[in-house]
Amino acid sequence: MKFFIDSADINEIKDLADSGLLDGVTTNPSLIKKQLDKTGGDFLELIADICKIIDGPVSAEVAALDFDTMLKEAEKLANIASNIAVKLPLTPAGLKTCKILSQKGIMVNVTLCFSAAQALLAAKAGATFISPFVGRLDDLSQDGLQLIEDIVDIYEQYPNFTTEVLVASIRNPNHIVESAKMGAHVATIPPNVIRQLYSHPLTDKGLATFVADWEKTGQSILAA
Ligand code: E4P
Repeated sequence: MKFFIDSADINEIKDLADSGLLDGVTTNPSLIKKQLDKTGGDFLELIADICKIIDGPVSAEVAALDFDTMLKEAEKLANIASNIAVKLPLTPAGLKTCKILSQKGIMVNVTLCFSAAQALLAAKAGATFISPFVGRLDDLSQDGLQLIEDIVDIYEQYPNFTTEVLVASIRNPNHIVESAKMGAHVATIPPNVIRQLYSHPLTDKGLATFVADWEKTGQSILAA
């Protein structure tokens, strides 16, 4: 499973990319606003800077809702760097734009997917990634993970579909583990949840014991 970071925070992205475990980045207009509120600056420059940190796909979202403007914005975003994945909403205009971009070999992430029917449309439009939002469905007392299972099952029926399932709106490590068991290709994970993945109380407890016992041996691995 590939791990993307769901953030536009340059410092967080740099810090977590240092682990060597990040395969890409997703942003959205709300994450961009949060970052620009803190730092100021220009959206296009921010995306260009993120593209230099990570070699893998960096999703940058269009703002327009109408097809003509959306296509122009998409082409402008795609020109920022070779690792841009243009993020398009799951609307008729978004999927029309998706079809055109995918035919040109531009990566597309179709976002705001909340049903298997929508995911089918995105695959037919040639999306590189489909982003079903697990947490926002859970927030409505619907089963976000069931949607992941349905999409993975459907895509597996059609080997000519190349669209990867990118699990979005992740709220906790369980969303990632369960999606991985289903065979989802990518998880885009907020920084705080990436950090939670490392942690287990028994790891901390075990390490404390090992450190204490090692000190008592008086040995040094590097001294000799
Ligand atoms: C996906 O690419 C979105 O950026 C994201 O996962 C939205 O998640 P949220 O529900 O936490 O805003």
